[in-house]
Amino acid sequence: MAETAVTAALSALRAHSGEISARSVAEEFAADPQRFATMHVALDDLLFDYSKQRIDAATLAQLEALAKAADVEGKRAAMFAGKLINSTEKRAVLHTALRNFSGEPVLVEGRDVMPEIEAERARVAAFANDVREGRLRGALGQPMTDVVNIGIGGSDLGPAMATKALSPFAPANLRSHFVSNVDGADIGDTLRGLDPARTLFIISSKTFTTQETMTNAASARAWIAAALGEAAVGDHFAAVSTQLEKVAQFGIAADRVFGFWDWVGGRYSLWSSIGLPLVIAIGPERFEEFLRGGYEIDQHFREAPILQNIPMLMGLLSVWNRNILGHASQAVIPYDQRLSRFPAYLQQLQMESNGKSVQLDGAPVKESTGAVIWGEPGTNGQHAFFQLLHQGTEVVPVDFLVAAQPTNADAHHHDLLVANAFAQGEALMRGRSPGEAIAIMEKQGQSAEEAARLAPHKTFSGSRPSSTLLYSKLDPRMLGRLIALYEHKVFVEGAIWNINSFDQWGVELGKELASRLAPIVAQADADTSKLDASTAGLIGHLRNLRS
Ligand code: F6P
Repeated sequence: MAETAVTAALSALRAHSGEISARSVAEEFAADPQRFATMHVALDDLLFDYSKQRIDAATLAQLEALAKAADVEGKRAAMFAGKLINSTEKRAVLHTALRNFSGEPVLVEGRDVMPEIEAERARVAAFANDVREGRLRGALGQPMTDVVNIGIGGSDLGPAMATKALSPFAPANLRSHFVSNVDGADIGDTLRGLDPARTLFIISSKTFTTQETMTNAASARAWIAAALGEAAVGDHFAAVSTQLEKVAQFGIAADRVFGFWDWVGGRYSLWSSIGLPLVIAIGPERFEEFLRGGYEIDQHFREAPILQNIPMLMGLLSVWNRNILGHASQAVIPYDQRLSRFPAYLQQLQMESNGKSVQLDGAPVKESTGAVIWGEPGTNGQHAFFQLLHQGTEVVPVDFLVAAQPTNADAHHHDLLVANAFAQGEALMRGRSPGEAIAIMEKQGQSAEEAARLAPHKTFSGSRPSSTLLYSKLDPRMLGRLIALYEHKVFVEGAIWNINSFDQWGVELGKELASRLAPIVAQADADTSKLDASTAGLIGHLRNLRS
């Protein structure tokens, strides 16, 4: 039933899209002086402007109908209530419990998980303070100056992104590093110049089996043992995992192991003990501000009506752009250098969550799902790929993120940054007609003939959709808000597509095959006859190049 209603709502949107493409967004602005006023949501010091999207009031009404047809609100309630909505793994999805400050219990299969969340958060805070305040000493009795997180995917991208984003809140005498790649260059380059006696490693892995993380952890352990002796290892390691027995086998003492739960997905785990590197960097009080920022968005997501609800709008507009207008990718451009890892973080959040081809019951999806997410900070991107955004044959909807005020940066620089962010959104929306291009060139003294020749090259179609998230300042609370917005945006998309946004079976096959190939790559005489011709051929050439 629900699927039929969703299909009908999408068909109605498709029929309506013809009217939308008949008018430019610039014409919509000219016709409706209230367009910005009606197409933005201000949530105190965070503003979401979606007036430059290719929509009108009727589109919004139909998107609201789509959300209702897909029962996004009912599915949202099921998530917050701890229902086992990750159906392929039979798990609840409760990263929101990690930032729940309502004082209300959160039940997983009838049990309130809030006491254990709070207890674990307190342990993380105490350990982080010991590191920050120099009480935690290495084997030679020295305080730590460098913290190296070893993890990958959700056990790396979140802490790495957030620690960079909030670097102004970190003390100068305590440096954070992140090692993720199995490429030995990553750990090798990171450790070069570090003093083992003052280095603390955090092994972060939900499963504590991930090949990259375990390989890097072993190398880090060998590095400490070589410099300080095997007995020193325990003083230089801590771990975060749900697999406490496996951590114990690695040899990390229980008081340095921080847990979380299977109902926290890896890409949603920054709010849990996986945030330890961030807590060490910014301190437990700031980390709580970060959590509270996420909680504020949870409240907004649960309570605001669909068309005043920022993550609902973000998700619905994303579906509109993906399924109705056919845009296969989305760019996220933070005009905020410290958010330089935010697009990479969102790639995992959105593409691992919604890169799915089957619905919850295993039937093929009826619509294209997760768009390709990419981006780089502005203004750098302007001098690299914005040409394609403005004049390429693919239309790429853009999210611009920009702070009203800088954090520890020069005001003049910041004015230029903001002007650029707004100008790009304006240029994408407004475009420039051939007539306008010719008029400008003639004014600049070009001949009519030359102006006509160049006009096609200097014409911009306009009506290229973008949204802008304008926020007061990038501080812990605001970062928590931004992340939670995108988490819920992903949820809304997944609810409409009727997919499981919380599993990731698609990464398994490659992992399996890599494990099978590892000994064949390592052993020069291993049999390749059972491999496909391409893989066998590559291994043959590899061996030639190595010999
Ligand atoms: O790449 C798949 C994945 O399972 C991600 O979902 C996860 O964040 C990452 O690997 C790391 O997993 P773990 O924390 O278990 O090492």
